[in-house]
Amino acid sequence: MKERYTLGYSSEWTRQLQKRTAAKEAGFFLPYLRSGMRLLDCGCGPGSITVGLAETVAPGQVVGVDIEPSQTKLAQSHAAERRVDNARFVVGNAYRLPFAEGSFDAIFSHNVLSHLRNPLEVLRVMHRMLKSGGVIGISHPDFSGQLISPSDPLLDRSRKLYWRLVEHNGGNPAIGKHQRALLHEAGFVRIEATAKYSTVGTQEAVRMQAETRSSSFAASNVAEQMIALGWTDGAELNQISAAWEAWGEQPGAFIANATVTAVGWKA
Ligand SMILES: C[S@@+](CC[C@H](N)C(=O)[O-])C[C@H]1O[C@@H](n2cnc3c(N)ncnc32)[C@H](O)[C@@H]1O
Repeated sequence: MKERYTLGYSSEWTRQLQKRTAAKEAGFFLPYLRSGMRLLDCGCGPGSITVGLAETVAPGQVVGVDIEPSQTKLAQSHAAERRVDNARFVVGNAYRLPFAEGSFDAIFSHNVLSHLRNPLEVLRVMHRMLKSGGVIGISHPDFSGQLISPSDPLLDRSRKLYWRLVEHNGGNPAIGKHQRALLHEAGFVRIEATAKYSTVGTQEAVRMQAETRSSSFAASNVAEQMIALGWTDGAELNQISAAWEAWGEQPGAFIANATVTAVGWKA
């Protein structure tokens, strides 16, 4: 069955990804990393997290893999700018990782499995890629835990449209809570999962969030997909876009999203 990465590779979305850091997005995993480890970042995107992981395990080697060549290219340039020379980036598919069994001491994957039709199959591949005793760290959102104020039927509609699109493309917007079970099924042991909320709770953060959501519903690869599928039209998406703008002007606006992280080991 078809699988498509819903969010695509627009410069706007890529800029959002480039704000991510290992300290923030991989903070849960850093305590398990040691200098000299060989690490894989699967679905590395533009590599903003990967370079921080490379700094942590240096002089150990890090490989970032992504299915999209434009992303590995951006990642390679980012590593060069940061003068990180122990990271390399290769184009590859998570279902068929181009490495020998037992190649890595650590594997990391952030916001990737939520876009895949068969995350269990990919975790089994990762299990094979790890050395015995190796550690895996994964982190994914679970949008079933979203908190939002004030609520609005149009914002609710936008959430439902996005959720339906991710599922249509093969993903699971609520995968977070299942990560511990998936790691167990893939053969990992001593699995520990935690969750935290990331919040949009200051005037500046609310405005930025409103701007991002408003423009993504007004015109974006995501909006185009929804229209092409016949689920909505430009008029409704304009109303949704305006509703997000209005939400951004509310003095008490607030959003919180749950992120679930999990670590496990290969016996
Ligand atoms: C939401 S982005 C996350 C990027 C990065 N991990 C981060 O958190 O900034 C998801 C990434 O997964 C990649 N991806 C999707 N399907 C993939 C697959 N089958 N194999 C490898 N990468 C994949 C996409 O190209 C995209 O760059």
